[in-house]
Amino acid sequence: MPSAKTNIKLGDARKAKKDEFYTQLADIERELKNYKKHFQGKVVYCNCDDPRISNFFHYFSYNFEKLGLKRLVTTCYKSQDRDLFSQNESEDAVYLEYEGDKNGSKVPDPEEIGVKPLMGDGDFRSPETIELLKQADIVVTNPPFSLFREYIAQLVEHDKQFVIVGNMNAVTYKEVFPLIQGNKLWYGHSIRSGDREFGVPADYPITAAGSRVDADGNKFVRIKGVRWFTNLDYPERHEDLILYERYSPDKYPTYVNYDAIDVTSYKDIPYDYDGVMGVPVTLLDYLNPDQFELIGNSDDAEQMKEIGLAPLGEEFIAAYRAAGGTGHRTAGMRMLGLMDPKARIVFKRILVRRK
Ligand SMILES: C[S@@+](CC[C@H](N)C(=O)[O-])C[C@H]1O[C@@H](n2cnc3c(N)ncnc32)[C@H](O)[C@@H]1O
Repeated sequence: MPSAKTNIKLGDARKAKKDEFYTQLADIERELKNYKKHFQGKVVYCNCDDPRISNFFHYFSYNFEKLGLKRLVTTCYKSQDRDLFSQNESEDAVYLEYEGDKNGSKVPDPEEIGVKPLMGDGDFRSPETIELLKQADIVVTNPPFSLFREYIAQLVEHDKQFVIVGNMNAVTYKEVFPLIQGNKLWYGHSIRSGDREFGVPADYPITAAGSRVDADGNKFVRIKGVRWFTNLDYPERHEDLILYERYSPDKYPTYVNYDAIDVTSYKDIPYDYDGVMGVPVTLLDYLNPDQFELIGNSDDAEQMKEIGLAPLGEEFIAAYRAAGGTGHRTAGMRMLGLMDPKARIVFKRILVRRK
């Protein structure tokens, strides 16, 4: 029987492993080509990246001169469970600073350039990496998803520009949605649907559909719901979404506890309705901030209270149960309720108004 100590270690390892997904070079290229003009003369910082394996380091070092970068800094987190997983995971926290090609080789080899040890464990929240963050203009990486809230909060606190990978579900986090509302964060250009392939450590169990091992034994998995999150502007996000539908009260029911209509797909947003509309989060893939004003996010009960959404009443809950509604739903909850054709509760809506 494993000791309690081993169990904890395995638990930690499993948790750590959940964050080990390596972004592919082609995905990085597809996204970053949209921001070329933003990088001229800038210090780029990749703070979750082992320069020896990171494709972010690879991309920026090989494109250093083309982008006109001033400096590239990458730091890497020390593997927390090196006994269990050594391949692809750094045994030491290291950093690397690159200032462009000096010897004309145009091949920036990390070992040649010099990977230096960090004093601490390379955590993006540690004092020495925060010092490096302060010197940076643009942060570009795929951070650990388990720390996404903290990661974004730190970038905002230090007023940094960024292009980072995350999961689309993060948009309704109460730490993230207000940034989208305030036009301080938006999805990047290159991913709006489907899944993307990521590298995984050698001992990663690849059982899911779409996983593969290449000829060199490198493992890959496909992940759904991936998006780029950025505050660098690009022209396409100012293009209007073309609306084709005409409003009619039959087609668009009104919520029982908030003066807004429910729209079940972003494609069905009516072009002639001036009030508030509850729309699926997928609208954010097509959001032009000049076309729509964001009023709220139904996942955030606090925000719903602030904008005046009334709590669901006893009568509504009774009708909801009678209609076969399940789950922990009680009177007093601030969720969007609909009565027609039967009592139901709708989830994950963002409330918007045409400008
Ligand atoms: C999703 S992976 C992406 C790796 C790399 N940025 C890439 O895109 O290929 C996130 C990385 O962050 C590292 N990491 C986990 N916790 C961290 C922390 N607190 N500070 C810095 N890096 C961390 C993980 O070890 C992992 O390699």
